[in-house]
Amino acid sequence: MAATESRVINPLGRPLDGCITVPGDKSISHRAVLFSAMAEGTSRIMGMLDSEDVRASIDAVQKLGAKVSLEKQPDGSLSGGIEGWGAAGPKQPDGPIYCANSGTTARLLMGVLAPWDIEVRIEGDASLSRRPMRRITAPLMMMGVDFEPAGAETLPITERGCKNLKAITYESPMASAQLKTAVLLAGICANGTTTITEPSVSRNHTELMLPEYGVKTTAGELTASVTGPSAMHSAEIRIPGDPSAAAYLLCAACLKPGSAVQVENVSLNTARTGFLMTLERMGADVAMRTTGSAGKEPVGIISACYTAGLHGCEIPGYKIASLVDEVPVLSLVAAHARGITVFRNVAELRAKESDRLQAIIETLDQLGIDAWNEGDDLYVEGQPGFEVPDGIELDAHGDHRLAMTWALLGLIGDKPVKVKGFDETVGVSYPDFLKDFERLVK
Ligand code: S3P
Repeated sequence: MAATESRVINPLGRPLDGCITVPGDKSISHRAVLFSAMAEGTSRIMGMLDSEDVRASIDAVQKLGAKVSLEKQPDGSLSGGIEGWGAAGPKQPDGPIYCANSGTTARLLMGVLAPWDIEVRIEGDASLSRRPMRRITAPLMMMGVDFEPAGAETLPITERGCKNLKAITYESPMASAQLKTAVLLAGICANGTTTITEPSVSRNHTELMLPEYGVKTTAGELTASVTGPSAMHSAEIRIPGDPSAAAYLLCAACLKPGSAVQVENVSLNTARTGFLMTLERMGADVAMRTTGSAGKEPVGIISACYTAGLHGCEIPGYKIASLVDEVPVLSLVAAHARGITVFRNVAELRAKESDRLQAIIETLDQLGIDAWNEGDDLYVEGQPGFEVPDGIELDAHGDHRLAMTWALLGLIGDKPVKVKGFDETVGVSYPDFLKDFERLVK
């Protein structure tokens, strides 16, 4: 295997200034691909994220028989049609389905395949092959799905679905939208009402989107249900900008003197905007305004300006799911803020594309910032104005969100920062990350 290369990230030189749009939301893009593949007829999708993760979902549904005709648009997004397999079901694929780095593809696919009598081996790259899967296979097995090896915690796993799925009521041990979605997708074909309850709120894109495909869902704060069997028809889906991509530009604006940035056409779903609430509680000059909707997703503008004198804050455990993918970049903001920031109950970070908890602590330590964990809580003691050591090289640990976070440090500062593994990971969720920063300094 080729050695992991480092990319030198040079300071932007100027403040970030102006309006920008970010690529389509990753979670919604995956769902649009998978739900359209399950539906009868041809769905139309606009504004889809074109990234390696979403391409893993596209490849998967094509191998299972969906007909995909998406085209690259001038703005970099994918738009076009997906003709689903509908009531006929997916075809037996010729070989394994490789989900690359995408946990969302692998986990949601398990729910997609649950009602069908085909045998599918699901595989992933080295990072995905370390991530926990039993959280998904356990409830699906209760519904009647077979997995081989039965007790496997990690990929590769072979799934054989079941034509007579049992509806279940499931109390999930964790707040996970991927788990919730897998169970609900299986529930669409089960006989009766499938209900899942979570300990705290996770993102609700599935509950918002399924009715567009003709599946009635009921959702409370901590529960979601579907009643099956329910047919799925095609839908027209417009995908709003990804708040998790916007978070990098907005956090950079808060940290780089003189900056003022507006991100337009971005999802303002409250299950995703926990990072904004956190920036606000740190004293940052941020604001959001709803301008419309895309399907049932609220859409609008988020703005952020440079703010001197940021201070630490405490993020309660029940809010973590609303900012789970933003903990790395928020930890970097916390490193620049006065006092201690505490992220409560971030155990889930250990099971992401890398062990993000350990990586954050080690990398901030390299920068001379004190960060530690006590139990499942992450503490960062900020040092406003800290000096980035000369010639520093920070490791992305094969993780796109860490790569972009460490790159941010180079972009907003006055010294180059080398990021090991930047080029090989950034394409997972935000291929135009550096270009979008350049657009804001022109
Ligand atoms: C996602 C849910 C979250 C998130 C991931 C995408 C989704 O994971 O971290 O990047 O699209 O449902 P969990 O479901 O594991 O919390």
